[in-house]
Parts: sequence; structure tokens; C-alpha cells
Amino acid sequence: MPAGKHVLLVVSGSVSAYKALELVRLLRKAGARVTPVLTAGGARFVTPHVLQAIAGEPVHQDLWSLQGEADVGHIRLARMADLVAVVPASADFLAKMAHGLADDLASTVLLATNRPILVAPAMNWAMWAHPATRANMASLTARGVHVTGPNDGAMAEAESGPGRLAEPAEIFAAIAGLLAAGREPEARPLAGRHLLVTSGPTHEPIDPVRYIANRSSGKQGHAIAAALAALGARVTLVSGPVALPDPPGVTTVKVESAREMLAACEAALPAEAAICAAAVADWRSAGEATQKLKKIPGEAPPPLALALNPDILATLSRHARRPALVIGFAAETENVIANATAKRQRKGCDWIVANDVSGDVMGGEDNTVHIVTASGVEDWPRLPKQEVATRLAARIAGFLTA
Ligand code: CTP
Repeated sequence: MPAGKHVLLVVSGSVSAYKALELVRLLRKAGARVTPVLTAGGARFVTPHVLQAIAGEPVHQDLWSLQGEADVGHIRLARMADLVAVVPASADFLAKMAHGLADDLASTVLLATNRPILVAPAMNWAMWAHPATRANMASLTARGVHVTGPNDGAMAEAESGPGRLAEPAEIFAAIAGLLAAGREPEARPLAGRHLLVTSGPTHEPIDPVRYIANRSSGKQGHAIAAALAALGARVTLVSGPVALPDPPGVTTVKVESAREMLAACEAALPAEAAICAAAVADWRSAGEATQKLKKIPGEAPPPLALALNPDILATLSRHARRPALVIGFAAETENVIANATAKRQRKGCDWIVANDVSGDVMGGEDNTVHIVTASGVEDWPRLPKQEVATRLAARIAGFLTA
């Protein structure tokens, strides 16, 4: 996130509006200024007082405020920021944007702005899937409006599906990426360079309906891909099945199994760096059944024989077209540094990002990592995965541009 940037944050009406508060916190922590605009619907879910307290700035709500409009406040608001973000963007607010309505302060600002716009939709899955919303989104994206999310998952109304607001860290990454895209060349040290990132779990089929998997969410790998793109890199993200949106500005190649992931990685070469953050399944079923395995009454369950998967990190480390920098991850529950150091040598990579997964790291928001290189170990404090990604991207940029 470039320091000193200014974000105009429109909060519209959705149960998920509380997540906008966490986004404000992340933006301010990264040195950005946040000016909030709250719609009447948004004010049903978060109070102007809490938004104002967290943003450290007055909240704008009223198009007809005599004080605000004395200097044509809606035009000033529309132009003052580097970017306008709508978080959460309700179905109603997106419809207003798509049709150019301007009947309150927030929609008027959106119509008057000439700044980049990012929307983070949040609504029930049926509303998101409705042809009206589809058409509204199509016209917004055709006009250059950027979109992050929505994610697939549980909703407030005890239903599940695509429509959940993207997580604050994902929205933060999208904002950082858009703000970085307008930066001077020296602020984009990885411009013109191609980097490869793996992320997520792999699914190893047992038969057409069953598979072996693990609990990796892909959050860390996706955040790294977004952080590298924010520094100007051309990023190929090879991802196993995850419930995350594709990071903006990144080429995402979706795969299922370890063997598909390896093939996609090799096809993406040459790359100047490879960051293997995927939790690749070590084993697959030795004989994938072409038909669904049936349980036969009275017979013992079928044995599950396993075969070793290719090691993508080790393969890339010893590849004829080896990237100049190969980075692996080591998920350890004990003897973190010793195991990571041995893993670095065994796999032939340059750096290992070792993390202690004895707590709630898998699927969680934070990560405590140690960077193991040929010259020693760097201990990083417990940080949000987003921040780990930003720091790692900066360290990679430092290495590649040295
Ligand atoms: N990796 C890979 N291909 C595999 C297995 C692992 O690319 N088939 C990569 C992962 O992306 C990660 C690192 O290797 O960068 C992790 O190595 P792994 O041996 O799987 O370590 P752990 O997950 O830490 O497990 P273990 O301690 O059992 O070795």
C-alpha cells in the first residue's frame, strides 16, 4: 500500500457492513487516509459514531447538509480521494450505480467521481445470481469498475452460496493493487518480471466422486500473488480448489491435483521466482477408479493404496529452467527451524518460509513465520497473512532487483 493514499469509503446497507470497520483499520494501519460516506441502509448496520471513531474523520451522510453543500461537498468528496471503494456494495446500491441514480450523497459521489472505483458486493446468493444483478454487474465492469468478491460461504440468513462479502484483507489487497497500479515506475520494482506462485490445497481423486484433500485455505498464497502484482510483477497463480476470489491483476490457473499443478507450473516457466505456498497432497490414490466404488454388503471396505505425488518445489528447484529464486513453505508443529533448515537442503530451494501450524494457522487470518536462507534465520512477529505477503513480496523484489 503506497503511504499517504486517500480512500473514499462508501458503506452501504448489508449485515456485513461491520467488516468495513476492519478494512478501515487495515487501511489506516498501512498509512492511508479514509473518508467514510454512509448510506441510510449502511447506517442501519453500523453507526456513524463507530465509523467516525475508527476512520478518525467525520462521516458524510447527507446530500442536503447545508454545511457540507456550502462548498458543493458532493463534488469535492468525489474528487478528493485517490480511489472510491464501496464496501459492502448492496444489490440496491449496485443497481443505483449501474443506472446512474443520484438520490443520496453516496450515489451522487459515485456519479460525480473520476477516480478508480472498487466495489465489494455482499448480498444473498439468489440476489447475486438474479439476472438483474448480473446485468448491473456487467454494465459496471464494462465501464471499468473493479470488483472484489463476493466469496462463497455461509450467510447471515443461514443459507450458503456466493454473495458473502470478501474478507477485509482481500479487499485491502485489491485496494493496494489498484493504488499501486497508478504508481511511478520506481514504486513498481517488479514491473516486467514474471513470477510464479502456487496456492491452496490439491484434490487427489479416489474415484469420480471422492477425493483426498487438506485444510489449506489458499489465503497466504493468494495474498502473496496479490502483493507481487501490486509491485508490478506479472504473476501466474497456480491454485488448487479454494473458496477465494481470483486476485485482481493476476493470471490464475485453476487445477485440482498435484500432477496438474506441476504441469501448470512447468507450462508457466520461465519465471524469475517461484513461490510454492500450496499445500500439495503428498500422496494420491494409487489406482484412481474410473467408476464410483460401491459398498458391497458383507465385504470388507476396499483398501486405499497410496502413491507418492511429484514434489513441485523440489522439481522446480532442480529444473533445467530453474527460476533464479525458489521459495518453499514448511508447515511444522515442532522443531520448526531445524525441520525447515533440513527441508531447504533436501528440496534444493533458496528460502523456506517456516510457519508453526500447531495453532490456528490453517484457514486462520494470522501467521508467525521464520525466513530460513543459506545465511541464517529471520524471525518475523505474528502478522496478518496479508502483511506477511507484503513483507515477503518486498523481500523478493529486493533480491531480484539487487
Ligand atoms: N510441496 C510441493 N509439492 C509436494 C509437496 C510439497 O511443492 N508434493 C511444497 C509445498 O508447496 C511447500 C513445501 O513443499 O512449499 C512443503 O513441503 P512438505 O515436504 O510438504 O512439507 P510440510 O507440508 O511441511 O510437511 P512434512 O513436514 O510432512 O514434510
